[in-house]
Parts: sequence; structure tokens; C-alpha cells
Amino acid sequence: MSLGTSKTVFQVLSRAVPQTGYNEPGVNSLDLTLHSRFGVKCMKKRSSRHRHLFECSSMLQSQLRTHQFQLMSFHDYKTYSRPWLQTCKCQRAESVGGITTGDGNGSRLVNDVETSNLVGNVTSAKHILEFDDVQAQQLKQEKEVLASNVTNGAITDSFDTIGLNSIEEEAWDLLRESVVYYCGNPIGTIAAKDPTSSNVLNYDQVFIRDFIPSGIAFLLKGEHDIVRNFILYTLQLQSWEKTMDCHSPGQGLMPASFKVRTVPLDGDDSATEEVLDPDFGEAAIGRVAPVDSGLWWIILLRAYGKCSGDLSVQERVDVQTGIKMILRLCLADGFDMFPTLLVTDGSCMIDRRMGIHGHPLEIQALFYSALRCAREMLTPEDGSADLIRALNNRLVALSFHIREYYWIDLKKLNEIYRYKTEEYSYDAVNKFNIYPDQISPWLVEWMPNKGGYLIGNLQPAHMDFRFFSLGNLWSVVNSLATVEQSHAILDLIEAKWSDLVAEMPLKICYPALDGQEWQIITGSDPKNTPWSYHNAGSWPTLLWQLTVACIKMKRTHIAAKAVEIAERRISRDRWPEYYDTKRSRFIGKQSRLYQTWSIAGYLVAKLLLADPSKANILITEEDSELVNALISANPRGKRGRKSMKQTYIV
Ligand code: GLC
Repeated sequence: MSLGTSKTVFQVLSRAVPQTGYNEPGVNSLDLTLHSRFGVKCMKKRSSRHRHLFECSSMLQSQLRTHQFQLMSFHDYKTYSRPWLQTCKCQRAESVGGITTGDGNGSRLVNDVETSNLVGNVTSAKHILEFDDVQAQQLKQEKEVLASNVTNGAITDSFDTIGLNSIEEEAWDLLRESVVYYCGNPIGTIAAKDPTSSNVLNYDQVFIRDFIPSGIAFLLKGEHDIVRNFILYTLQLQSWEKTMDCHSPGQGLMPASFKVRTVPLDGDDSATEEVLDPDFGEAAIGRVAPVDSGLWWIILLRAYGKCSGDLSVQERVDVQTGIKMILRLCLADGFDMFPTLLVTDGSCMIDRRMGIHGHPLEIQALFYSALRCAREMLTPEDGSADLIRALNNRLVALSFHIREYYWIDLKKLNEIYRYKTEEYSYDAVNKFNIYPDQISPWLVEWMPNKGGYLIGNLQPAHMDFRFFSLGNLWSVVNSLATVEQSHAILDLIEAKWSDLVAEMPLKICYPALDGQEWQIITGSDPKNTPWSYHNAGSWPTLLWQLTVACIKMKRTHIAAKAVEIAERRISRDRWPEYYDTKRSRFIGKQSRLYQTWSIAGYLVAKLLLADPSKANILITEEDSELVNALISANPRGKRGRKSMKQTYIV
């Protein structure tokens, strides 16, 4: 779409869509917040009353309990769960004969039948503690052996000789070892299990975003339970009492991560219980809100349904409510002039200050996916008509905005180069008043003749021209980018292979911030020095998103080439979190080893390349009704007017 034609479309849209935001009458998030907050005053720590809510809930095993859950409102959640604790203890103690590798927490994967048979058994606390001791001892010994192998080079040497199959086998072993259990059920994977690092920070937690490739790998392998458990338990955390210095974020927020803690059982010194302890950013470095968590949760929920065929999870009342809470939070009216989601710095995979506050592409791409996936899954009911209308309007406006204003290629760059500024009018060409001097010298050199990409961010008088891999790849996967744009993004990746892939796929962004710009934008962050970590470091986990994008565009050879490059080093280097330097030659200076999403990302890429049709669980194809909505608003649309079955603009 050219700028000229798009102008008209946008005007028509602007007039026709008086309100793209959404506020459900009577149930705004403020109401909920006030309700639940006043009882607990200005708490920094959650009270045990609230914490107990999520302790060892065995809803996955009990139809009865599941049913109860569905009928409960948000406020009811807070008053129960105690009776379930015993059930949980029994499962942990009795499930020793389970079927998978232990996780080091003394628990085992138990299938549903086994588990339900166990409900009601009573096991002594002593038994539990003994079991924990044996497991802890075994884990300690395993860790010692592993650590000594690492130190004396045994692992590195032996890795030189292993073939590709054994890389995959090793990856599966490591992925299974990273599984975290809660009351005997697998519910996620730890972020990293690095025996060489003494400073764990929060890498021993289950991160929502990190679990996505793990979950997809398990789904593709036919192991659905862990994903179902993850979806349902994290859903409970959504309603957690969360505050930071007396302020509470919106109700639909999903945590960045959670940890399974074993704590003494109240009133019984000899027994312990497991609790889920989420972090919504109130403990995270920089106190960043994880906007992406809920969006990924919706994407995984759809993938689970498509892959397993089990639609009963997405149809549950509590799950439907969870979807709506996320949507309400995202669609709430604010001061925004743009349909893109306004967020703070560090609200996604890049969770430190990197100058991506405002409307970063990654969040917009995930937002678009979440809207598309939610629309597919929401069961129609009278009460949600307004929400669905708001969702549809937002989809139209968002796709128009991104396709039109975030897109850049040589032609567009030349247009910007010749922009007039300070245009006060409704039909300004340079709507955001971008000064041509902003075009950085690197970009003039870097932009290939063939290819293009979506820029990192757009604000008044500011275009962030950096290339961000995840946002671009995910816009291909979910059809936020047009077919032409999607091909152009892959063209650019091919043309700039030595910058973006180099010796380890894939740069998180390009290029690095340097000098004074680095000082000001990152706050002189020593972890984000040029060509390291978020500042243009290389992240092997991005392989899976690259693979899905390539499969969608039927250009799998690109992903296959990247996987081959990764295979040269990734196992030998012990599955690092990220790589440093312009050509990704070094393992990152503070990089974790045995980073789970590096392992899982590789496995997903391999599984999908072996059977590309399976990528459908993640892909959303171009929505013809959406396209028609755009075209019908555009009198000069190239594709001509098609008959519109449905109109979103009301
Ligand atoms: C780092 C990454 C973040 C990831 C976390 C756990 O903070 O920036 O995206 O979720 O580590 O791996």
C-alpha cells in the first residue's frame, strides 16, 4: 500500500472507528482492583491467606474440583484450598513409580489415572521427608559429577565426537531434566540449569516466555500434559494479589515467572507443602511488567488445542475468563492515539532498559497474535459482544498501522529522506513529523536493494530503525505483515546473513547501541554492552521462531541452514543463553549455560523441519475478512473491492 492510498484508508478508519478501545460497563479493572485491595491494605508481601489460594491445588486431577473452579468468581478464589494440601502431599510421596526422570525436587510425573487413584491416600510426613532426602542426595551427586566433568574438559571432548542425532538426544535429556513439578505434576521448565554458575538469580524459576518453546517441543512430541498443567496453573496466578510499593498493576496481568517453593506446613513442623510463588515484576530486576506473558499464554493455549485436539481446556469457563481478562487489560481505553499497545521499556523478551518503551514491535506482533488466537477461541455469548467488537476493530486498525507505518525498505527510506516536516493538517504525509536527519548512516548502507523489515518502534518524531528479530519473525508467522512484506523480511535476513546469523543464529536486534547512545539509552548497563546480550547479542532460542516463519513462507531452506550453523557449536558450547560479538563468536560474557529455551528452541526447529505441516499450530494465515475490511475502506485499494461477509467497523 502506498502512503498516498493509505492516508485515505486511515482517515476512513479514523472516522469509522470512533472508539477502538474497550471498557466493559460496570466491570472495569479499577472496580476489581479496589474490591480486592482494600481488604489487604497496602501490602508489600502477599498474605498467607492469599498465598494459600494456589497451594497444591489438584484441580487437574479432580473433575469435581474442576467444576467448582469454573463456578467460582475471582473473589471466591481467595477463600479456599486448604483441604487440598493433603491430597498434594499424598501424590508427591506415593508417585515414586512414575514414568519420567526426576526433577530434583523429589517428584515424578504421574499420569492422570495413577494420580486420581492416589487421591485420598494418606502418607506420613516422615515418608515425604525421607523421600526428599534421598532425592536431594542423588541430585547433589549428579551435580558434582557433572561439575567435575565440566572442569576437566570431559564433556567438551566427548561432545566433539557426537553426531547430530545425539545432539537431539542430548537436548531431549536436558529438556526433561529441566522440568519442574508441582504436587507431582509437571508444570513447566526451569530457565537454566547451569552447574557452572553459582549465582542463580531467578534462573531457577519457570518463565512464561521461556516455557513457550519447551511447551511446543512437548506438544510436538505428543506429551500434552505438561502444557495443559502449565496453562491451568499459570491461569490461577493471573488473579494473584500483586502490589509494588502499594500500587497494583491491572488484573489480567500474567507473571513473568514463578517458582515452586517447599515451605513448612502451617501448624505442623514435620511436614512441608509446596506453594507457587509468582513474580509479576515486583521482584524482577528493574521492576519491569511482563506484558508479553499473557499474550504468549493465549498463543500457547491455541497451540495446545490445535495440537492435542483437546478443546475442553480452552472452553472451560475459568479459561475463557482468563482470556477475557488479558484482552480487557490490553483493550482498555487510555490516552493513546495509536492502536498499538503502549508499554514501558523491558516489557518483553528484552527485559532491561534498551530504549524500547512506547510501541515496540515485539509487543505489537504478540498482541496481534493474541487477538487473532483469542477470537478463534472465545465462545460466543451475549456478555462478550462488546469485547469481540472492540477486538475486531483493534485488529483492523493495528494491522493497518503496522503494515503502513512500521514498514521500511529502500523505497520507503527514500520517501522519508525527502519528507517535509511540520505539516499541520489532517492529511499530512509525514504524520509523525519524522525529521529525515534521523535516518542513521548505518541504515543507508545496510538496507539491501531487495528486502525490507518492520522497524522497532514508532513514536511522535521518532522511528527506531533497529531491526528486531522476534517482532519481525512473529509478524510473518501471524500475518501481521503482508505476504509481500513477509517475503521481503526473509529476503533481508538472507541478504544480511553475515550480520544477523553469522556464526550463531540469531541476533536479537541489529545494530548495537554504542558510545553515548549506549550510555543514555541503556543507563550504561554493563550487561548490555555493544554486541552483547540484548544489545545485539545472538540468541539461539530465536531459531524456532525463524523456522516457523520460514515454513510459513515455504522457504524452509533458510531455517535449515541456520540450524546447521547452530549445530556446529551449540551442544559443544553447552547450550548457552546468548553469544557476544559482532559475528557471534564468543559465548556471552554473562551467559548461562544449559539455558532451557536454547535447548527447546533447537528441538522445536528440528521437529518442525522434519514435519513442516506441524507448524500450523503456531501460524495464523492472512484473514480475508480483515483484508476486506481494509480494502473496503480504501477506494484505491490495489486488490479491488471484494464482497464483505462481515463488517468490523461499527
Ligand atoms: C533474561 C531474558 C529474558 C528471559 C530470562 C530468563 O532476563 O532477557 O527474556 O525470559 O532471562 O531466561
